[in-house]
Amino acid sequence: MPEPILVVRDLVKHFPLTRGILFKRQIGAVKAVDGISFELYPGETLGIVGESGCGKSTVAKTLVHLERPTSGQVFYKGEDITRLSGRALKAVRRNIQMVFQDPYTSLNPRMTVGDIIGEPFDIHPEVAPKGDRQQRVRELLDVVGLNPEYIHRYPHQFSGGQRQRIGIARGLALNPEIIICDEPVSALDVSVQAQVINLMERLQDEFGLSYLFIAHDLSVVRHISDRVGVMYLGKMAEIGTDTQVYEHPTHPYTQALLSAVPVPDPEAREGRDRILLTGDVPSPADPPSGCRFRTRCWKAQPKCAQETPPLRALAPAGPTEAAVHASACHFPEPRPLLAVDGG
Ligand SMILES: Nc1ncnc2c1ncn2[C@@H]1O[C@H](COP(=O)(O)OP(=O)(O)O)[C@@H](O)[C@H]1O
Ligand SMILES: [Mg+2]
Repeated sequence: MPEPILVVRDLVKHFPLTRGILFKRQIGAVKAVDGISFELYPGETLGIVGESGCGKSTVAKTLVHLERPTSGQVFYKGEDITRLSGRALKAVRRNIQMVFQDPYTSLNPRMTVGDIIGEPFDIHPEVAPKGDRQQRVRELLDVVGLNPEYIHRYPHQFSGGQRQRIGIARGLALNPEIIICDEPVSALDVSVQAQVINLMERLQDEFGLSYLFIAHDLSVVRHISDRVGVMYLGKMAEIGTDTQVYEHPTHPYTQALLSAVPVPDPEAREGRDRILLTGDVPSPADPPSGCRFRTRCWKAQPKCAQETPPLRALAPAGPTEAAVHASACHFPEPRPLLAVDGG
């Protein structure tokens, strides 16, 4: 059983809510991420899904130190990196890179592609000494399927899909082990999405990368992920292998999300009831007591308002230790007792 490459423990990120201009008073907090735990294993893709505003990007930013967590810990290869700074942080950050959602705004329009992709070398010159940079950038362009001759062009001269390839090339520049992908294809046309996903899968095999792949589109996540975590209002509702989560969802929120995904095959559609979620997502500044999903849940009982359901492993255990299927529901749908994962 491999050791996880990244372990996230009880991660919390609250943003202070203030009122007043001259004399700012804190009147509360946006509980963007409120106690999230998960592991990322070497070479795997862990997908994270959830509606807009549930805290996915905040998790991503905390992992790459773009946000400082309110509490909780992040371990990289067993080392607590949560509060690293300076040289030690720099060394770790090299191995954990991020690819952003919007290829139209995440690339500096005044920089050439060569400068954009090569920028990480300014911070880590040891990866590509000055004289080798151009060559290294050309290699990276080639690796992501772009013509190395484009090195002197500017972002506006590329399509959305090509820009995202540039963003990926930049993410690869320092030979990272982990890439945090925050909705990397959400801004792209469906046909282009598939090409970029295929590229990312090929790069994963070629370089042995681990991906944390964030998206709100469940089909995209299923396609690329080995395991999937479902987030709701700053918490993990359910996590498991793609088969566990997609074929045997146990949390009502997962079931509702899945029921909204169109099923092209009429036979598969049969017997599936569409669950219509009523009510809006509550504000993360004032989440419901107990289970956060209870205000929209058709199974809610008094216990759900009183006790926060922990993310608990379900029986039977998954095929491997990494494949634990866990659900944060007081009344999870039972899983069938026979092995459902085919191995
Ligand atoms: N810098 C910030 N200051 C205050 N609130 C924030 C900040 N960043 C995110 N939030 C809030 O935190 C919640 C989660 O946001 P986010 O992580 O971007 O969700 P997602 O990526 O799932 O759409 C939202 O309510 C959002 O408005
Ligand atoms: Mg986001």
